[in-house]
Amino acid sequence: MKKTVAIILAAGKGTRMGTKVAKQYIEVDGKPLLYYTIKAFEESAIDEIILVVGKDEGTYCKENVTERYEFTKVSRIVEGGKERYNSVYEGLKAAGICSYVLIHDGARPCLAPDLINKMLKEVCLKKACVVGVPVKDTIKVIDADGQVVDTPDRSTLMITQTPQAFEYDLIIRAYEKLFTTKDINVTDDAMVVETMLKEKVFMVKGNYQNIKVTTPEDLFIVKQFLKYVE
Ligand code: CTP
Ligand code: MG
Repeated sequence: MKKTVAIILAAGKGTRMGTKVAKQYIEVDGKPLLYYTIKAFEESAIDEIILVVGKDEGTYCKENVTERYEFTKVSRIVEGGKERYNSVYEGLKAAGICSYVLIHDGARPCLAPDLINKMLKEVCLKKACVVGVPVKDTIKVIDADGQVVDTPDRSTLMITQTPQAFEYDLIIRAYEKLFTTKDINVTDDAMVVETMLKEKVFMVKGNYQNIKVTTPEDLFIVKQFLKYVE
């Protein structure tokens, strides 16, 4: 049997949200955002969940989320690191040997179990894939003075979300190589595979409700979207 593991990232501080409690623990309709995120994975075909939390936040997370809602697939809770990529690496090491991993932002609570299952199917075929949606606005590339230097063809642009799904061997190799380089500059996991290994990554079409809760106004949107997640 091929083992599949989800790494859910919840070790960020939520600086742009600016709340006292980190954004993944903000309650919407009486439950922390992280509850909704984990619930989607619990109800999917994934075998195990590894939760990456902030330093000394393990007990808080158990009391307020995993034990409180009796999630059964969370096999380990580990501490993350300074940057998102440090947290991912801690999650990958904790996952140990498995066939496929799905890396997901804990701050994206509006995904449906169906999307997770779709990614599990796709990754078996493609080895590396990410979920995303077409860009709706025109995107401009600017220089340091704010002058527009390029307008890429919108039909080629996708907003990239998570889950990002990989063969375990591929993603661990990519991350191990990343930490041997200087001046790390990566903003998602696919980029680690693209730049470190030059391997192909494929886009899987998702949906616009899978937003990342980042700034305060996102909380209004997420409250609405959570009503319609199926
Ligand atoms: N994350 C993490 N470890 C970090 C940084 C981020 O696990 N060192 C997680 C966050 O908890 C979040 C996801 O990665 O679920 C996406 O990151 P982001 O939206 O940037 O969250 P924060 O870093 O918490 O927010 P901010 O950048 O505003 O501080
Ligand atoms: Mg951040």
